[in-house]
Parts: sequence; structure tokens; C-alpha cells
Amino acid sequence: MVQLQLHLLAALLPALALAIPSPVAPRSPATNLAGAASKDNKRYFGDAYQSFYLADPRYGPILDSQFSAYTPENEMKWEVIEPTRGVFNWTGSDLIVAHAKKTHSIVRGHNFCWDSQTPSYVTSITDPTELTQVLEEHINAVLGRYGNDLYAFDVINEPLNDNGTIKSSVWSNVLGENYIETALTIAHKAAPNVKLYINDYNIEGVNSKSQALATIAKNLLDKGVPLHGIGFESHFIGGELPGDISQSMKQFTDLGLDVAITELDIRVPVDSSGIANATVRKLQADNYATVVQACLDNGNCPGVTVWGFDDGHSWIPGVFAGQGDANLYDFNYQPKPAYYSTLAALQNGK
Ligand SMILES: *[C@@H]1O[C@H](CO)[C@@H](O)[C@H](O)[C@H]1NC(C)=O
Ligand SMILES: *[C@@H]1O[C@H](CO)[C@@H](O)[C@H](O)[C@H]1NC(C)=O
Ligand SMILES: *[C@@H]1O[C@H](CO)[C@@H](O)[C@H](O)[C@H]1NC(C)=O
Repeated sequence: MVQLQLHLLAALLPALALAIPSPVAPRSPATNLAGAASKDNKRYFGDAYQSFYLADPRYGPILDSQFSAYTPENEMKWEVIEPTRGVFNWTGSDLIVAHAKKTHSIVRGHNFCWDSQTPSYVTSITDPTELTQVLEEHINAVLGRYGNDLYAFDVINEPLNDNGTIKSSVWSNVLGENYIETALTIAHKAAPNVKLYINDYNIEGVNSKSQALATIAKNLLDKGVPLHGIGFESHFIGGELPGDISQSMKQFTDLGLDVAITELDIRVPVDSSGIANATVRKLQADNYATVVQACLDNGNCPGVTVWGFDDGHSWIPGVFAGQGDANLYDFNYQPKPAYYSTLAALQNGK
């Protein structure tokens, strides 16, 4: 019933052009994350998920009521969507795109060029002409199918080392740093209305890596390459946020780019059942609010996406031993202090 009302309300707002990709995803009331973020038609609040999470009947109601942007956590990655050259698996991505249409949400596609989750038929290519051809086929197929349904795409994922040099990958090894320009140019031609991003981690503070990326971004823009935004992944550690997130954002927004928070989670020490104590959760809640505030303080930050909303679907415990409890909701889909601090920041912010 509540859901129906939300959709009716959205349908009554034609001026907001919900059918076209837009960061504006108006929701009401402002007592949920997406509604509070869309205040003054400004921002989205997103979740990264996999289509089959909806098999749990507790997942969908929270997804639909709290989030207005979706990132396919895995289902648009190369190894899932084109596991064999020319053979595409659209199952998961079709479900996510269809769900977004149903809930008047936007989709951030993710990703094309990365050094991970890319099939060996791609990573074993050594001929630049062949690699460019395979990249073009892939981008044209994915954006040919979804180009009108997407708000943004992380074309380039995690291109840099922490010292600011270009990371080794089939892309940089075979095509040189120029692969960034090549991929962005192909993607823009295939889907001129989709905002094209470079997405990375450890660029949320001013450091060698973010400064190097700002230089790369400026050079691309000076050459007229279609780059529209930078994704700050924001996989943070509780109590260890960079103190200068706003300054780092400004490095890019001063160039005319958007900066979105794309993969936010904040991991903390947990006990043997995977749960953090109240002191730690309070600190984590403050950290979530700080990150959201940095976005709200920048007129070119279109929104925040969390990398999964619940601890039950988090990648953290499997990768960082002794850490977890990184998300807004607990294992039982109950909102945590981080949820309430995030909501309050969105409601109070501009
Ligand atoms: C296609 O993708 C879906 C969703 O990710 C997955 O469940 C399925 O196994 C895949 N199909 C094939 C043939 O790989
Ligand atoms: C930068 O980091 C990479 C990856 O750790 C390393 O291979 C490379 O030698 C470093 N380059 C410089 C100039 O420090
Ligand atoms: C809470 O957990 C942290 C991290 O494990 C620990 O340092 C702290 O002593 C704990 N505080 C309480 C009150 O249990």
C-alpha cells in the first residue's frame, strides 16, 4: 500500500521527467533515505545489489522504500555479462534495470575496464587491435541494450596504484594509458546520454593517488574526451576517515566533473558472531554522517550509493578477517545507528 502511494505520487510529477536518466529521483516522504536525499529534487540514495537478493522477501521492501538508485553489484561485470566472446548473459542485469523502471529509480552501470572479474579470453589478448575490437564489441552490446535506461556507467574501474601510477592490467599493458580515452570515447558514442565515470578507492582524501587522477582527468577534459564524473568508492574503516574528503572532491568538481560516492561501507572490528559493540557502532554512525555531509556540501555530488544495505550481503567479512558490521542494516534487516545518522544528515542537509 505504501509502495503504491509512492508510485502514484511519482506518476503525478511529470515535470520531473522520471522516464529519463536523472540524478533526481523524487520520493516521499522524507522519512526514508531516498526521500530525504531527493529534497529539492537534488540527490539520489543508492544501493548495490544482485538480482537474486530479492528472493529473500525481506529485501525488496527495504530496497523499494529506501533507495532510488541501483548499481549491479556483479551482474554488469564482464565475467558475468559476456563470459564467452559474443555470448551475453542479460539475466541479472535485465532484472535490475526492469526493477528500476518499476520503482522509478536510476541505474549506475558497473563496469567496463578493470583488472579483476574479466574473463581470460580478454586478459590473454596481446594484440592492441584485437583488444580494442573486443572492448568495442562489449561496450556497444551492453550500452546498445541499456544505453537509454542508465544514468551513469563506471567505464573505468580502479585504474591507479596508490602511488598514482597506472595499474597493471590487460588494458594498460596492451593499450597503454590511452585505454582510458579509448573506452570513454567508445562508450559516449554508444550512449551519448549516460554520464561516464572513472571509479576508484583511496582517492577520497587529497593524496598521491587522487592528485594523479585529477591530473589525468584534467588532461582528458582538455583533449575533449567525454568524462563526466569520478566515483569515490568509499570503502572506509571506522575511525579512519580521511579528514579532507571535501577538499579531495573539490579537486574534481573544480574541473567541472561530478563526484559521486559509489560504494560506501564502513567496516569495524566485530566479535565472533560478526557484530560490533555499541561504542563502535556510534563511531561508525558518526562516520557515515560525515561522508554523506561531504556529498551534501558539494553542489556537484549527485548522490551516495552504499555497497549493500545489510550486513547479511556484505563482502567485508569474507575479505577482512575480524571486521564487518559495515552496513546500514544488521543481519536481521534492522536499521542500525548508522542508518539513523545517515537519514538525519540527509534530512538536515541542503
Ligand atoms: C546468468 O546470470 C545469472 C544471474 O547472475 C546466473 O544466475 C546464471 O547462472 C547465468 N547463466 C549462465 C548460463 O551463466
Ligand atoms: C608504484 O606502485 C606500483 C604498485 O605497487 C609499483 O609497482 C611501482 O614500482 C611504484 N612506482 C613508483 C614510481 O614508486
Ligand atoms: C568495543 O569494541 C572495540 C573494538 O573491538 C573495543 O576496543 C572496545 O573496548 C569495546 N568497547 C566495549 C565497551 O566493549
